[in-house]
Amino acid sequence: MEKFLIEGGKSLKGSLSIKGAKNSMLPIMAASVLNSSPRDVELKNIPIIQDMFVMKQILQSLGMEVKSAGNTLLISSRNLDSYSIPDRLMREMRSSVFLMGPLLGRLGRVRVTYPGGCSIGPRPVDLHLKGLEALGAKIEENNGYIFASTSGLRGADIHLDYPSVGATENLMMAAVLARGKTVIYNVAKEPEIVDLQNFLNAMGGRVKGAGTETLRIEGVDSLESCSYRIIPDRIVAGTILMAAAATGGEVLLKGIIPAHLDAVVAKMKEAGVIIRSTEDSLEVLNGRLKAVKTLRTLPYPGFPTDLQAPMMALLAIAEGESVIVESIFEARFRHAHELNKMNARISVNGRTAFIEGVKKLSGTTVHTSDLRAGAALVIAGLAAEGSTVVSDVSHIDRGYERLERDLQKLGAKIERAVEI
Ligand code: EPZ
Repeated sequence: MEKFLIEGGKSLKGSLSIKGAKNSMLPIMAASVLNSSPRDVELKNIPIIQDMFVMKQILQSLGMEVKSAGNTLLISSRNLDSYSIPDRLMREMRSSVFLMGPLLGRLGRVRVTYPGGCSIGPRPVDLHLKGLEALGAKIEENNGYIFASTSGLRGADIHLDYPSVGATENLMMAAVLARGKTVIYNVAKEPEIVDLQNFLNAMGGRVKGAGTETLRIEGVDSLESCSYRIIPDRIVAGTILMAAAATGGEVLLKGIIPAHLDAVVAKMKEAGVIIRSTEDSLEVLNGRLKAVKTLRTLPYPGFPTDLQAPMMALLAIAEGESVIVESIFEARFRHAHELNKMNARISVNGRTAFIEGVKKLSGTTVHTSDLRAGAALVIAGLAAEGSTVVSDVSHIDRGYERLERDLQKLGAKIERAVEI
């Protein structure tokens, strides 16, 4: 296992470009199964992160070829010959559930185990299964496996009980080859949903409405290869902005889509952070941090749950009492306990966290429980007095491409080391 060694107290300064979005890349890699032409799908602006390698292994386990060169992937589905995903890979990453829609569309069958629930709470897939059934899939669940099959998916009207990001993506990928018209109501509106729609349409799909509450999909007979560039990662961008603000730094992020961070920028400004924006950049300038009355995580365009932990690290040193309500996941406050080891004053009651800002955090050894909690602990270490050790950074490597290198470019004293 590896850890980060951080010397706190240095203000981050400089500029950085942000790479492609993990949560766009994963469904789009899965959607490449739908390509029935002999030519490869080319994906650009791919972040080189652990989850990409896991999805690559999943596609290869299905008989597909995935070649990577820098931040570009070439994916061929010419030899797709399996519909069953190895348990080991299913358990490594929840996003493996995204293969259900494409494999049903392409092969008429799919076999998966229940995706691993990570430490942010249970990760049910009932909305995925209900929607696939509505499209004509027969679903059998026994001893931890889900087997879905169909003699041909057909269009349907589907009402999602909750705007689930994954269910929206899975059903979009299943409907794109279904016979006839599909309308899906109450869908998620995240930018990554729009990215997936644009990718499917670049392959010849006929999907409309992504970014709104309702998706309308006209089934087509087949999809072709295409070359596609993934959107920048709004969660990585938000994480770096919060690290800059927590260290009283001045950082410019380029090559991003500021509109994807509207709710985040608004909340950071409420917390006293000075932020300037242009059409493709955001700049944090030094401001005096102050508490925010209530921060509630919500489906897009509300404040994203994936930036709740990094924001908590920022509010831990903002003057006054802040309240965070985590309305998306059941157990996404495990970083609070670790921040308290650094002299933060945070109390948690169910889905609500009360943060009383302190002047300074103190460096110590803290443990990473999940991807975004790990990012929050890095932010806290950068702002703290003294040295901090953040353990088990493999969680962080799932969603951030060499985070320590980006931070070193901005002047941070952070090194990766092997845990002995
Ligand atoms: C996606 O997860 C993201 N992952 C998550 O990012 C993100 O936190 C989440 O959307 C919310 O924005 C990817 O895109 C790979 P959901 P997903 O389905 O699809 C419940 C990160 O850190 N639910 O919108 O799993 C579920 O339990 C990760 O990058 C059901 O009840 O999220 C949760 O409480 C973490 N039944 C809520 O909906 C279902 O069938 C939101 O889940 C599906 C979901």
